[in-house]
Amino acid sequence: MPNREHWGTRIGLILAMAGNAVGLGNFLRFPTQAAQNGGGVFMIPYMISLVLIAIPLMWVEWAIGRYGGIRGHGTTPAIFRLLWSHPVAKYLGVLGLFVPFVVSCYYVYIESWTLGYAVMSLLGMLPKVPASTDPHTYLAPFKEFLNAYTGMGEGDFYRPSLKAYFFFLVTMGLNVFVLIKGISGGIEKLAKVAMPLLFLFAVVLMIRVITLETPMGSAVAGLNFLWEPKWAELTNPKVWLAAAGQVFFTLSLGFGAIITYASYLKRNDDLTLSALTASSLNELAEVVLGGSIAIPAAAAFFGVAAAQTIAASGAFNLAFVSLPAIFANIPLGQFFGFLWFILLFFAGLTSSVAITQPVIAFLEDEFRLDRRTAVLATMFVLFSVAHVAVFLAGALDEMDFWAGTFFVVVFALCEVLIFFWAFNPTQAWAEINRGGYIKLPRVFFFIMRYVTPLFLLLITGWWMVTILPGYLAESRWTSWVAREVLVAIMALFCFLVYFQDKRRRKRK
Ligand code: PHE
Repeated sequence: MPNREHWGTRIGLILAMAGNAVGLGNFLRFPTQAAQNGGGVFMIPYMISLVLIAIPLMWVEWAIGRYGGIRGHGTTPAIFRLLWSHPVAKYLGVLGLFVPFVVSCYYVYIESWTLGYAVMSLLGMLPKVPASTDPHTYLAPFKEFLNAYTGMGEGDFYRPSLKAYFFFLVTMGLNVFVLIKGISGGIEKLAKVAMPLLFLFAVVLMIRVITLETPMGSAVAGLNFLWEPKWAELTNPKVWLAAAGQVFFTLSLGFGAIITYASYLKRNDDLTLSALTASSLNELAEVVLGGSIAIPAAAAFFGVAAAQTIAASGAFNLAFVSLPAIFANIPLGQFFGFLWFILLFFAGLTSSVAITQPVIAFLEDEFRLDRRTAVLATMFVLFSVAHVAVFLAGALDEMDFWAGTFFVVVFALCEVLIFFWAFNPTQAWAEINRGGYIKLPRVFFFIMRYVTPLFLLLITGWWMVTILPGYLAESRWTSWVAREVLVAIMALFCFLVYFQDKRRRKRK
């Protein structure tokens, strides 16, 4: 068996997996989604999705990954082929390259804003607006600042600032630096430093935010708003789709990223407890920390009604407009602003290395490239494609829509069906439990075999009926260009898989 890398320690593995999952999604996407979808009641479909699809899928992804890894493969084109001998298996596995790659092309860019904003906070380069002004007007300079930074205006093309481009280059460089050092030497080392710091920063910020009170409102009122259940929303299918989508995104499920990380496990390494621990860390960072910073802070400064409007206008406005405006008006604001953005940056970096690793592993495992070449080749293509997201209006949303919300669910469906139906259910169950520090209750066998796939099927169908038609109807020409790029990426991966498979058969 070719000599594949392995995680160094159990704690390193768990922190790396938690680093994979804990990302911008926890601190930006979660609070906005919860606020937009009925507040406290959002947590009901969220918890149900967590138990019925996310946690089972987490075990499935870890098991698929470990199964492939001990046979020399870390990505799904090859692993699906091992699990299911049908010729189509490897092409379904292409999704395990397409999804993470497409998401990485915009994720790294947004991550670079957080680094840029961290540095600019620290150096006092963000707008300064005296607190005496009316809160609604003092958001405007921050909005303008963000628009100037990203260059995201009305036209068909964005004109990012030089600063934005510079920090994008730096962020790319940092990702390359970590990835080139490999699994235990790079990713694991990063996680061991970044994850404890991330939790520390988040707790400090949470404490600071919870004690905020202004004549406009208090952070506690913000918490009440976020958690107050609006029961009528429970029957709204959109809320269920949003909750399931958030659970996928935050736990990195359906991205192939968990599978690739798990492929660096050893044959008898514990999987059941480790997967559960990493997921719990993510949920802690999401529900407790993620929910207690951005929205409560906005509520304290602008009042609950305005916080709601801000949340409805999207995660970027919350993170890059209202929070800097708040930090500009509290003692030691430069420092707290830095803490907020560097927290986001650590969350982003430990996730972006996870989304890029699948393609790197694919090149290493299937094309026998050495790590350095695989990293540089992947990052070069990523960097080139990212320009579409950086410059073409709406491309970022388009990539997020297809790869980050639709294909993740389809891919997750492929995973469970291949593992628990095409492969062999008894063997799949044994694969999950081998070496486990805890033995999974048998009921999860039935959940994984029947409930999870059905639930996923339902979500996919619902999504295609309720969301897709409206979305397609609204497209502008730039969306179609972005879609063509996506088709080209898919075609490229399909070709690589086809080519590799042909070569493999000739060798036999
Ligand atoms: N889970 C990450 C987040 O919450 C996103 C991500 C998805 C990271 C897939 C890696 C792989 O931001």
